[in-house]
Amino acid sequence: VEPLNIALAGLGTVGAGVVRLIETNAELIARRARRPIRIAAVSARDRSKDRGGDLSGYDWVDDTAALAARPDVDVVVEMVGGSDGPALALARNAIAQGKGFVTANKAMIAHHGLELASAAESAGVALKFEAAVAGGIPVIKGLAEGAAANAIERVYGILNGTCNYILSTMEDTGRDFGDVLAEAQRMGYAEADPTFDIEGVDAAHKLSILAAIAFGSRLRFDAVETSGISRVKAADIEQARSLGYVIRLIGMGEIDRTGGAPCLFQRVRPHLVPFDHPLASVDGATNAVVAEGNFMGRLLFQGAGAGDGPTASAVVADIIDIARGEKGAAFSMPAGELEAMEPAETGHR
Ligand code: NDP
Ligand code: HSE
Repeated sequence: VEPLNIALAGLGTVGAGVVRLIETNAELIARRARRPIRIAAVSARDRSKDRGGDLSGYDWVDDTAALAARPDVDVVVEMVGGSDGPALALARNAIAQGKGFVTANKAMIAHHGLELASAAESAGVALKFEAAVAGGIPVIKGLAEGAAANAIERVYGILNGTCNYILSTMEDTGRDFGDVLAEAQRMGYAEADPTFDIEGVDAAHKLSILAAIAFGSRLRFDAVETSGISRVKAADIEQARSLGYVIRLIGMGEIDRTGGAPCLFQRVRPHLVPFDHPLASVDGATNAVVAEGNFMGRLLFQGAGAGDGPTASAVVADIIDIARGEKGAAFSMPAGELEAMEPAETGHR
């Protein structure tokens, strides 16, 4: 059987995790993919960096952009990050070259997902991004496949591991915000620029992707009303606790029927969550997503939302899907009729 040849762009927390997972579980992955997965090339910025494993057996490519044109590569896996720049150039070029494309990059999908999905559909290749939302939780597959027959009324949850780690650790230990953020960075949870985490932007990226899948709406990151947790103080957490609440950063997408035509309303902000709500007990870098459908009722997805192992699991699951012949993207194309409201239009809430 011919192997599926993949190229890995980015060998940081996620990329190095993908190498370790493919090496460790090679046999079972090949069985489930119905063919071996072969790492044909790897690339990052600094060849000399210690990545916690021996990469000398792989073909190192200094010019990451060159991965897209390699004839011995079937699928390019992007784990570099950034909404534009090298990640986007790689995505466009790989798809144009007829290669499957897997990414963990929610910023890029939130900004350019529709363009890339349409390019992938035209080229007859797969665009996969399970790792981009809620790390190791298969929430895109869960909603796109498991909830396919349902009209979704609301989808909400904890979408950023770093913020949840900060809030729940401050709650448990009384430690300082900056100190816990630095720890989340050391654990590999935070974005390269952690203001994306603490200002709610990363959760907004994920919410816009999730909402487009759940509601079949046009992906609109610019329409997410966003605020983060950077102004939450230890005293706020203490006061919330004394009243029976925890503070969690929640992303929510729901259908608003208060006007004429139904609209999609998307918002990320810190919430007071009562102790007895399922989201109140979600601690550490865990994420949780709740989806409410008209026939399925309420679904709760919960698991590790950040970190090398969980994120690599989602990336490799996408690679396995491609090895089995999957094509296209999870977004409904053409997009549905539901439109997202601009933040300014949602001031009444
Ligand atoms: P890291 O910063 O740990 O790794 C980024 C990698 O990209 C590094 O290997 C770096 O090279 C390489 N890189 C950066 N810039 C360039 C460039 N211009 N050209 C070539 N290579 C480059 O990030 P993560 O692994 O944490 O994240 C990667 C992606 O996965 C991001 O999109 C992130 O949002 C997403 N993600 C991360 C999760 C996590 O828990 N960390 C979870 C889910 C998604 P070098 O190592 O040589 O510096
Ligand atoms: N920085 C992100 C988080 C990584 O903390 O959730 C996972 O997407």
